[in-house]
Amino acid sequence: MSVNKLFVLPGDGIGPEVTAEVEKIANFLTKEGIARFEIERGLVGGAAYDAHGVAISEDDMARAGAADAILLAAVGGPKWDKVPYDVRPEAGLLRLRKDFNLYANLRPAICYPALADASSLKRELVDGLDLLIVRELTGGVYFGEPKQIIDLGNGQKRAIDTQVYDTYEIERIGRIAFELARKRRNKVTSSEKHNVMKSGVLWREVIIDLHKREFPDVELEHQLADALGMQLVRRPKQFDVIVTDNLFGDMLSDVASMLTGSLGMLPSASLGAEDAKTGHRKALYEPVHGSAPDIAGKGLANPIAMIGSFGMALRYSFGLTELADKLEAAIAGVLDKGLRTADIKGNAPKAISTSEMGDAILAELKARV
Ligand code: NAI
Ligand code: MG
Repeated sequence: MSVNKLFVLPGDGIGPEVTAEVEKIANFLTKEGIARFEIERGLVGGAAYDAHGVAISEDDMARAGAADAILLAAVGGPKWDKVPYDVRPEAGLLRLRKDFNLYANLRPAICYPALADASSLKRELVDGLDLLIVRELTGGVYFGEPKQIIDLGNGQKRAIDTQVYDTYEIERIGRIAFELARKRRNKVTSSEKHNVMKSGVLWREVIIDLHKREFPDVELEHQLADALGMQLVRRPKQFDVIVTDNLFGDMLSDVASMLTGSLGMLPSASLGAEDAKTGHRKALYEPVHGSAPDIAGKGLANPIAMIGSFGMALRYSFGLTELADKLEAAIAGVLDKGLRTADIKGNAPKAISTSEMGDAILAELKARV
């Protein structure tokens, strides 16, 4: 059985509490011989600053680079608000994204039937929802040059942002979307605004060409980004994988996340380039939420976003698709039984703690493996 190397960066605030629940599950799977995980732990964010005066140490960067997947909880908090800019907690996260060239951001929106009433939409629209937004993360208008504000000298100023995409950037994000679709329901919706943007024209062209050459077996459709925003709240269950640029992806993934309820439920992944020699893809898995300093250390945090991020690592880095399905089924099972942490309590009689939720998910998983 191959060894799966996991580099865990608990970070700050509720980070250590929620990552402990993932380690519980990984250790169980290793002990039972179901899958083998080798866990190393490092420091990032405020935790790294307190220990070494940096946002992440060179040693931890090297260990992160050697791992098959990096699992990061969250960084930051009021304690570090005044530390120097280049060693602020977020710098650790940015360094990981930049050094490992993590250009594909994956944000699933899964609506567990038991929580469908917590959605901003009607239950029938979201019950059983399972879509994945693949957002280009390192290009587009957030990084394109020129990017400036010019003083026109007549009391007016002019602000310029530039959307730039090269063929290779579109092709590599498209390839990830098609590959992921093959592991899901085999459908990709590509989104841009080719009606008003040149980058949209090229985006569409490159995706169509890539589809023809490498992924003719995957269903491909195109939707303009504004129309897609509408469809996301009108009939979200029509989607499997959505692939789009940095700007549209930023907005659409935030819209999609609210179809499913609490911040404590949302996992994410960021994937980078494949290593030319090993074919291994760098990957960072993290919950969408932050370090939640308001509830840190109280056992109140919902570990599901973090456990779900581990589930994504099983699926996308370790090729353990069946196990990932079982873990998701275990989460659904716990929710079906009415078990809730405080953030998703709703009308439940009482809330359970972080570790009780982790234990309950582990028990459900045990019954399935
Ligand atoms: P946050 O996501 O940490 O918290 C927002 C609200 O949601 C809080 O009331 C919190 O208690 C609640 N919440 C978040 N995760 C939860 C969970 N797993 N279970 C139950 N409740 C949960 O965002 P906020 O408060 O804006 O930021 C707090 C700190 O986290 C800041 O220092 C911020 O910079 C940092 N942050 C870090 C991120 C990262 O590392 N990727 C992302 C967002 C914020
Ligand atoms: Mg955003």
